[in-house]
Amino acid sequence: VKAEKTVFSAILSFAYFTVKDRLPTILTKVIDTIHRNKNKFFEEYGEEGIQAEKQTISLLSKMRNELQTDKPILALTDGLQDTESWNQYLQRHQGLHGDQESVSWFKSPWLYVECYMYRRIQEALWLNPPISDYDVFNEGKTQSFFESQQAVMTLCTYLEGINKGREELSKNQLLEHFNKLLLVSLWGNKCDLSISAGQENSQKTSPIDSLSSLQPFILVDDSNMVWSTLISAQRPGQSGKITAGRVDIVLDNAGFELVTDLVLADFLVSSGLAREIHFHGKSIPWFVSDVTANDFQWTIRQTMAANHKWMSKSGVQWQSYLKEGVWSYNDHPFWTQPHEFCDMATDAPDLYATLQGADLLLFKGDLNYRKLTGDREWDHTVGFDSALRGFGPAPLCSLRTLKANVQVGLQLGQGEKLTSQDPDWMTSGKYAIIQFYSPKSK
Ligand code: F6P
Ligand code: MG
Repeated sequence: VKAEKTVFSAILSFAYFTVKDRLPTILTKVIDTIHRNKNKFFEEYGEEGIQAEKQTISLLSKMRNELQTDKPILALTDGLQDTESWNQYLQRHQGLHGDQESVSWFKSPWLYVECYMYRRIQEALWLNPPISDYDVFNEGKTQSFFESQQAVMTLCTYLEGINKGREELSKNQLLEHFNKLLLVSLWGNKCDLSISAGQENSQKTSPIDSLSSLQPFILVDDSNMVWSTLISAQRPGQSGKITAGRVDIVLDNAGFELVTDLVLADFLVSSGLAREIHFHGKSIPWFVSDVTANDFQWTIRQTMAANHKWMSKSGVQWQSYLKEGVWSYNDHPFWTQPHEFCDMATDAPDLYATLQGADLLLFKGDLNYRKLTGDREWDHTVGFDSALRGFGPAPLCSLRTLKANVQVGLQLGQGEKLTSQDPDWMTSGKYAIIQFYSPKSK
């Protein structure tokens, strides 16, 4: 059955191109970055730092060779909290294939192999203690934040405008602002550094002004259901005062995209559409630009310290939301495992239970979509609910620009039409979806 097939690195597919070209490019950049920081490691840790740099580079070069010569996927050896689970997953795959040889870099599911590479980068660092905590993607993430400064200022100024006049906003005006900021957060997903294989990819134009020209590229738009979910989560509290629901944002990339998510979260709280926001990030550097706890705090600190009135005001507000517990940041090892989300209830029941407490889950980005849909070769007309295969801790919405060969929930003929007009529509990052699902019980 077509839908049962995971996306493999078969010749000429985007998966093949990723494993053949994009992943080695990213790996080479990582090796260069570590080498360029040799002096820094020496200053911090002396000779031990230099040894760690050499050792890490040698482990990473070995891995690059394994990848390029299609060697078997090796078990992890770093004995960390998630090592066992990774190795069990590998064994399960080997079991499925019948022999170990077939589980190699080019003969494994794309999603698995791509996640595995990032986990192996982490292993190389962890095996070299003085530099274990070094984030090899930090330079790119901070650079992309600074290169988007103008867009960040525009966005914070827009937010200030809404917040200043919020008492007088009609419901329609509120809806209009909501739609805009949801779109800004959606298109913020264009700015990831994995699709660009680590090349600079920041927001240069005004994120607000470009919205109307991007409209034709939205293939599925369920934003009205996101809005009605927020409205129906508003209930009278004990004092009779209306309290809103909890929104969880499963973050994707640092840099401009993270700012768009923070601005959306600020708007949701300040306008009374949400009472609390729980952010979910990654516990290790992941897919080049994904948000870690450090990126999250750094971004807020930078925003606070900016030499721009509305930007720094936003940063100060965000910091106080965190202090007051209105916002919280969480990470969980499940987000950096290769598992599809339909496995979450069994493999990470604590995380699943946490997500059940939300009134709305926003899943940012392409990787989250691949995991929501199991990275299967679904027919494009298959419903999002079917592709989720039972995953649904709460009403959820994917905000994603398309960068991988999976897309469900399209109209009959829509996929074929797109393929004939623009053969790369699923991988170019030019198209986007706002796709919603609500479990029956919620
Ligand atoms: O399509 C390329 C790719 O690297 C995918 O493998 C991955 O899912 C995606 O880009 C990362 O994009 P995002 O940051 O939106 O999850
Ligand atoms: Mg990402």
